[in-house]
Amino acid sequence: MNLLGSLFTSSIGRKFLMAFTGLVLFGFVTGHLIGNLQIFLPPEKINHYGHFLESLGSALWLIRAFLLACVVVHIWLAIQLTLENRAARPEAYGVDKVNRATLASRVMARTGLVVLAFIVYHLIHFTLRLQHPEWSQHTYALHDGTMVRDVYKMVVQGFSSLPVSLFYIVAVGLLSYHLAHGISSMFQSLGLKNENWAAGLDRFAKVYCWAYFLLNAAIPLAVLSGYVHL
Ligand code: HEM
Repeated sequence: MNLLGSLFTSSIGRKFLMAFTGLVLFGFVTGHLIGNLQIFLPPEKINHYGHFLESLGSALWLIRAFLLACVVVHIWLAIQLTLENRAARPEAYGVDKVNRATLASRVMARTGLVVLAFIVYHLIHFTLRLQHPEWSQHTYALHDGTMVRDVYKMVVQGFSSLPVSLFYIVAVGLLSYHLAHGISSMFQSLGLKNENWAAGLDRFAKVYCWAYFLLNAAIPLAVLSGYVHL
């Protein structure tokens, strides 16, 4: 069997793939947050950044395809793991251990599903702009005169809706919770978690995820409060 085949079929290979795809997606959401925080700077910054991403052309499509493949593999393996956990015989383990394991995987599966629904909505909202086709027509003149799409205006108008902002805040809250558990198990799967490190890594995961949640939530809250405006 080739290497790719055994990655998908062996238990250790699947754990590695789950951790690797999780790490890639973790990198994406962190980078995306850093990019989005430019909403707190003058509109030129985030609009220039949006234009830069679009100017990557086919490289951007390659990155998108790779990210999509990671999402598909991550979900596929998560479904398999959940089914296997369910099928595992409880009498083979201590009751507490089983309860904790199934609770953690149930929480990961449910928060993961909500995050997936959020991503689909988010793509419809900001990338495809199906609810507001007029957002595709909003343009902005950069200092050098280049006309680019007005991402700043789109984000401000998007988060001016209370239900939309609340949905984003709840979704990033669940995503942060998902990440906190995911980071811990990712280190374990990659063999980077030992007794000396375990407590420190779990603390890092908690601090990171709180910061991730608060910084993400700050964006819709800043728009709703009028701090970030047109
Ligand atoms: C307050 C938080 C967020 C803001 C302000 C935001 C904003 C944006 C914007 C402006 C775009 C680009 C639309 C365009 O012009 O094409 C975008 C795309 C995207 N966002 Fe977010 N986002 C947020 C949170 C998230 C989160 C938490 C995730 C992941 C779970 C996410 C995943 C994506 C993806 C996958 C894309 C498409 C990227 C592409 O294909 O170019 N976003 N977001």
